[in-house]
Amino acid sequence: MLAIGADHGGVHLKEVVIHALQVHHVPFVDVGTNGEESVDYPDFAAKVASGVANGDFDRGILICGTGIGMSIAANKFYGVRAALCHNTYTARMSRAHNDANILVLGERVTGVGVAEEIVNIWLETPFEGGRHARRLSKLHVHENSENQKVAAPGGGHPEENRHE
Ligand code: RB5
Repeated sequence: MLAIGADHGGVHLKEVVIHALQVHHVPFVDVGTNGEESVDYPDFAAKVASGVANGDFDRGILICGTGIGMSIAANKFYGVRAALCHNTYTARMSRAHNDANILVLGERVTGVGVAEEIVNIWLETPFEGGRHARRLSKLHVHENSENQKVAAPGGGHPEENRHE
């Protein structure tokens, strides 16, 4: 099952992508948002990315204005490989080399036609495995690393913990 979510900056492109999913008979869950009222992208990234992290969803699609906020937020979740794609080449490579499990789009930077092609290619392209699988296993080493905590011992922003 695929989950799709957006903030107010991506809500119109979300409707376009949902139509593409329906045309291709891809089952999906829409976690919102569904209006132009201002919302916070981390909340909607969490709805999709936590579901991918815990196995409720196989894949996700997230959309905000630039795609940047959704990418940053989604990649905080364990096992998530969220890829912000601006064209069909990056969409294909995000699957073939990075096994991206969340596609991120920016409504304010990517046209509707390109976005539809990105989605189609992203859904159809398999992971190549091989040397790329070895590299993904190194990402998981980083996820489990103690460095995650050392960077911000107080749990806050790393800059808050600098004493120079
Ligand atoms: C909302 O104005 C905008 O900041 C958001 O959609 C996204 O682009 C953030 O990265």
